[in-house]
Amino acid sequence: MLRLLTAVFLIASPLAAWAAPVHIESPGKVLSVDITTDPDGRPSYQVSRHGTPVIAPSRLGFILVDAPKFERNLVLGTPTTRSFDETWKQPWGERRVIRNHYNELRVTLTEKIAPKRSFDVVFRVYDDGVGFRYAFPDQPQLKEVKISEELTEFNIADEATAWWNDGFGWNREEYLYHRTPIEEVGVAQTPLTLRTQAGLHLSIHEAALMDYAGMNLMRTEGRRLRAALTPGSGTFAKVERSAPFNTPWRTLQVGERAGDLVESSLILNLNEPNTLGDVSWFKPMKYVGVWWEMHLDKKTWASGPKHGATTANVMRHIDFAAKHHLGGVLVEGWNIGWDGDWFGNGQDFDFTKPYPDYDLVKLAAYAKSKGVHLIGHNETSANAAHYESQMDAAFTLYEKLGIDAIKTGYVSDAGQAKVISRDGQVHYGWHEGQDMVNHSQRVVDAAAKHHIAVDAHEPVKDTGLRRTYPNFVSREGSRGMEYNAWGNPGNPPEHEVNLVFTRLLAGPMDFTPGIFKMQTKPGSHVSTTLAKQLALYVTLYSPIQMAADLLDHYEANPKPFKFIEDVAVDWEETHVLNGEVGDFVTIARKQRGAEDWFLGSITDEQPRTLEAKLDFLTPGKRYTAQIYRDADDADWAKNPEAIAIESREVTSADTLTLRLAPGGGQAIRFKAL
Ligand code: NOJ
Ligand code: CA
Repeated sequence: MLRLLTAVFLIASPLAAWAAPVHIESPGKVLSVDITTDPDGRPSYQVSRHGTPVIAPSRLGFILVDAPKFERNLVLGTPTTRSFDETWKQPWGERRVIRNHYNELRVTLTEKIAPKRSFDVVFRVYDDGVGFRYAFPDQPQLKEVKISEELTEFNIADEATAWWNDGFGWNREEYLYHRTPIEEVGVAQTPLTLRTQAGLHLSIHEAALMDYAGMNLMRTEGRRLRAALTPGSGTFAKVERSAPFNTPWRTLQVGERAGDLVESSLILNLNEPNTLGDVSWFKPMKYVGVWWEMHLDKKTWASGPKHGATTANVMRHIDFAAKHHLGGVLVEGWNIGWDGDWFGNGQDFDFTKPYPDYDLVKLAAYAKSKGVHLIGHNETSANAAHYESQMDAAFTLYEKLGIDAIKTGYVSDAGQAKVISRDGQVHYGWHEGQDMVNHSQRVVDAAAKHHIAVDAHEPVKDTGLRRTYPNFVSREGSRGMEYNAWGNPGNPPEHEVNLVFTRLLAGPMDFTPGIFKMQTKPGSHVSTTLAKQLALYVTLYSPIQMAADLLDHYEANPKPFKFIEDVAVDWEETHVLNGEVGDFVTIARKQRGAEDWFLGSITDEQPRTLEAKLDFLTPGKRYTAQIYRDADDADWAKNPEAIAIESREVTSADTLTLRLAPGGGQAIRFKAL
């Protein structure tokens, strides 16, 4: 009631409203936000850190379909504020305990002229970042909201270097990162990472993307970036919603060190708490798969003499996983539909019928008897509508057989997904359009009912929904290992250090590390050393981590493989010891439920010598450091598989010197004594 009265008062005296900007600070007074309107009634916000602008005045608003622009003549209402401080626990994750501590400000912006529509903006201000979203209230003059453009801007205050990849390209999320002055950004996906001239590190992304279009960023002028929403499917607008509703959070992480971005939990904190309750049926795991052999052309997804998913081959993988204490086996090409040109023929897939040489029932029982989880593969060729028509039958079958994790896939060119839209009909859509966002959610919801975990490839980008739906365990959403099997250009040596500070800020990535034979196909290779492959298990977080190479290669190299056997996949704590975006990073993580720690350090094409203080270890405890390092003559280009394995006793008082080869890395297990 109070707010309503105030709003009426302010509409009557707009001048008083815009003369006094609205201001809010983070709990530790590190960041602050100011919201104001200009004399034309155009709202803007600004973010400062210790009083210095980080985001210069940036616009807010919308263009709606066939309607007056929703950006001018707006009057600020009286803000309401609240503080929030809670500590919550992740059922699985890169850290177990997370503090969610912010100050919130909500303010209504109302048009002072007809049609007198309004929206709220809600800012949550943390010490390590800011999230804000729009809330469209229930109002008679705006019942159906059709958004053609969201006008949200991020006007970067300082000169900055940007790490970004192209948005709206045919290959969806799978592009290499550019490193350019911000003035050279074109259309970028998020997360987009910046280092300002003053040395601050920023990441712009979004949180809780539900029933809305994914956001890219378009540079409009100078250092000004603007939201560029993904197009709607068919002839639908980019976003179509009935009020009341909230948009996803637009997020800005701010840190002094590059590693602060990795240690921030802003994206997760802005998502709603777990709605699934007890999810102990999902256990983080490592897995092998009938997979790399297809990418190497040694086997095929399709039926025939080279078919990979045969009963015998999968039994071998189950035996291997059981012997080496790996939790799962992924099987691709097990189901009908791969013959012929599967790309674009999603309607041919049958998600319940195996090929005749794949004894699904027997293999499921065999896996169960060995304590191994079969991971079902559901490539859809982006025919989401066809997949949904079989999804319930498929998930019922998988649950019955004990298949409690699936890898979905949406291979197609951008804009070529086939998806059910609001009219109940199938339309062509973009992978991050509103309809595909909703499809993705329907898959996760249906899977949760059957206690199935989802790992999506060619997915909607991660925006932290794993907090609310902890069965959405991992995604691809960038260039994974597979590019190193497909010929030039594969992933360059800097790719993984770029990923840590860009794509991985969104959430876990199913990158599929662990290749031991760097020469893949004629003309193709992996541009890392072997030690770096091991370090990726620690540096690229995912609760499911593939050991992606051929079993033969692991059997021939039991010593380095021991690290993959030992490395944890679920963590109590995560610390970034050092790092620079795109150059190098060292991360230490404590195994959940154990005293052991693991360290991964990776570099780009430059060799490096880094000091790692072991003060994260428990003081007074002794540990054996099992060190997997680049051999002295290792080099990603000339001698990638040269590795030295050694151990020594250490305590928290020690400092280790890490020597990383060009394209190299180092992996260490600290085994508590
Ligand atoms: C692309 C996925 O990223 C890859 O892992 C999979 O093997 C192929 N699609 C086939 O589904
Ligand atoms: Ca892919």
